[in-house]
Amino acid sequence: MKVLYASSEALPFIASGGLADVAGSLPKALRKKRVGCRVVLPLYGTIPQELRESMQFITSITVPVAWRRQYCGIFEAKVGGVTYYLLDNEYYFKRGSIYGHYDDGERFAFFARAILEMIPHISWKPDVIHCNDWQTALTPVYFQTMYGTREGYENIKTVFTIHNIQYQGRYGMEILEDVFGISPNDAHLVEFDGDINLLKGAIECAHRVTTVSPTYAEEILDPWFSYGLDPILRERSFKLQGILNGIDVDLYNPENDPLILSPYSADKTEGKAINKANLQKLLHLSQNPDAPLIGMVTRLVAQKGLDLVRAMLEELLNTTDAQIAVLGSGDREYEDFFRYIEGKYPGRASARIGFIPELAHKIYAGSDIFLMPSKTEPCGLSQMVALRYGAIPIVRETGGLRDSVQDSGDGEGNGFTFRSYNAHDMAHAIHRALLGYRDSEGWQMLVRRAMECDNSWTRSAGEYLRMYKSI
Ligand code: GLC
Repeated sequence: MKVLYASSEALPFIASGGLADVAGSLPKALRKKRVGCRVVLPLYGTIPQELRESMQFITSITVPVAWRRQYCGIFEAKVGGVTYYLLDNEYYFKRGSIYGHYDDGERFAFFARAILEMIPHISWKPDVIHCNDWQTALTPVYFQTMYGTREGYENIKTVFTIHNIQYQGRYGMEILEDVFGISPNDAHLVEFDGDINLLKGAIECAHRVTTVSPTYAEEILDPWFSYGLDPILRERSFKLQGILNGIDVDLYNPENDPLILSPYSADKTEGKAINKANLQKLLHLSQNPDAPLIGMVTRLVAQKGLDLVRAMLEELLNTTDAQIAVLGSGDREYEDFFRYIEGKYPGRASARIGFIPELAHKIYAGSDIFLMPSKTEPCGLSQMVALRYGAIPIVRETGGLRDSVQDSGDGEGNGFTFRSYNAHDMAHAIHRALLGYRDSEGWQMLVRRAMECDNSWTRSAGEYLRMYKSI
């Protein structure tokens, strides 16, 4: 089985969110299952020089973007046993940021088309092209409308994974031919609600559609979660499946993490207290080993449930001895809120605005509790990392949070959960956690159970393999 995994970001090259983690770790896990998995991504200008040095130029080709004929250099690199193809076009990809440009539609139409065009030039023919999110959603559309019957493309299947249904790639119909090169006869494939909707196109055209947790696969059939696409998904539900993500357990390993001060494990958790003291010092929190420290590492956007936090954080700080450490960036209103809290509660609250992986590891290792009250969460990786570092997650029961965290109220479970999107319900879960924290023996057992949860890719890679074989 040979799989070409197409993604607009992948660790260690380039990351803006969870997709990069998945694209950086699932291919490795698939290789362990004897799947020949290679990754293709754009060669962005912001990819670090050290990684560029390991790349080899293979060849260059011309890629059609509607009527345009664009240069595409194909580079190859091998990292951790996985082969990566990096597609070069400086006009499209040599920019200061990877998304958010006026011509993103054209940039990713180029990428989606180049993925297909490169196949005859790499002396390796995949059985499956596995695409991810709207940036590669046109690949299954182009495959169905232009490549499926071409020589050299026989028997290739396409899989499309939705990591977050909120981002759909929507454009005005007027650029259908001029930018996307799609004939009006095929317009129905991508048209939704009067617009071009690339995600809809992929749902229509891919042989299989997956999403990143079983619960999210059910949720997106419902209008509350689907951002409009539930009728399409219900019609195509026969090809929809949810497969829970895993995390890279080598990258996130408290026993052997160069970014934390003191290593520890489920059997020997003493090091965690040292990491907590170190984190408190680093973030100017008061050096109190008994104050429960709540960590949050998150994009600061509404989806992450920050309105609930905003509604009750001050009350929590006023009525308990809890400390809070937040790391993330995103919408101004939330960034400002956390800055305000930090200013008002010195020694109790810390807010670092940014994307700082080194600090993220220190927060996972130093926190007692990890708060993730998302409004929706396709999978969520942070709660899995938190579990591995023994930071007990408090989550809302949605998407992958529901599939990876079980309430410990019954003496089993690995965290604390609440159901409705309601600040009081969240506060109640936090108070239960704080009460649990006071029972140090029970808490130690909970930490141990959390750290022993297996969120590696081993099981899910097997599910992907079964899905590939079933097409
Ligand atoms: C997106 C989702 C997140 C998921 C990640 C990887 O970022 O919002 O829930 O974990 O993709 O699939």
